[in-house]
Amino acid sequence: MMIQSVSSVLFVCLGNICRSPAAEIIFRNLLERAGLSDVIRVDSAGTMGYHEGSLPDSRMIAALGRHGFNVYSTYSRPLHPEDFIRYDLILGMDNDNLHDIKRLAPDSIAKAKVAPMCQFVDTNKFRDREVPDPYYGDPRDFDHVVELLDHACSNLIKVIVPNH
Ligand code: 4NP
Repeated sequence: MMIQSVSSVLFVCLGNICRSPAAEIIFRNLLERAGLSDVIRVDSAGTMGYHEGSLPDSRMIAALGRHGFNVYSTYSRPLHPEDFIRYDLILGMDNDNLHDIKRLAPDSIAKAKVAPMCQFVDTNKFRDREVPDPYYGDPRDFDHVVELLDHACSNLIKVIVPNH
């Protein structure tokens, strides 16, 4: 996969109510600020469908608000096999997500589209090698996820739109 040819990104976590909708919302905010909303298509999904139809967790909406992000409505949905056709890059938040996404990938072309979100995290800025699940955490855990995703999404834009 040539990362420079990416024009669509799908963020994936377990429930699609905390980390991946936050990544989607943050990435949309950054694309909008950079005038790139029409260049890159973005969505999010979960490896399980348990929360299908739900808005993001209110604690994540609050954390996004604390960091000045414009919060869009996005409804939880499970990852579908067609996502491997419709998206160029599929980013898993943690190693369990990556394992589950790859299990659903129909072939080697699909598998090659799957990468860890923390591939875009500078090791000198954050210790995290996975985006931690904040679901059973406190507001500081949600703030940390927002800050980590903000950093990763900003690097992701630099990589997929290199001369911007
Ligand atoms: P997410 O967080 O994968 O970041 O959306 C979770 C949401 C729900 C559950 C676990 C993690 N849950 O067990 O219901």
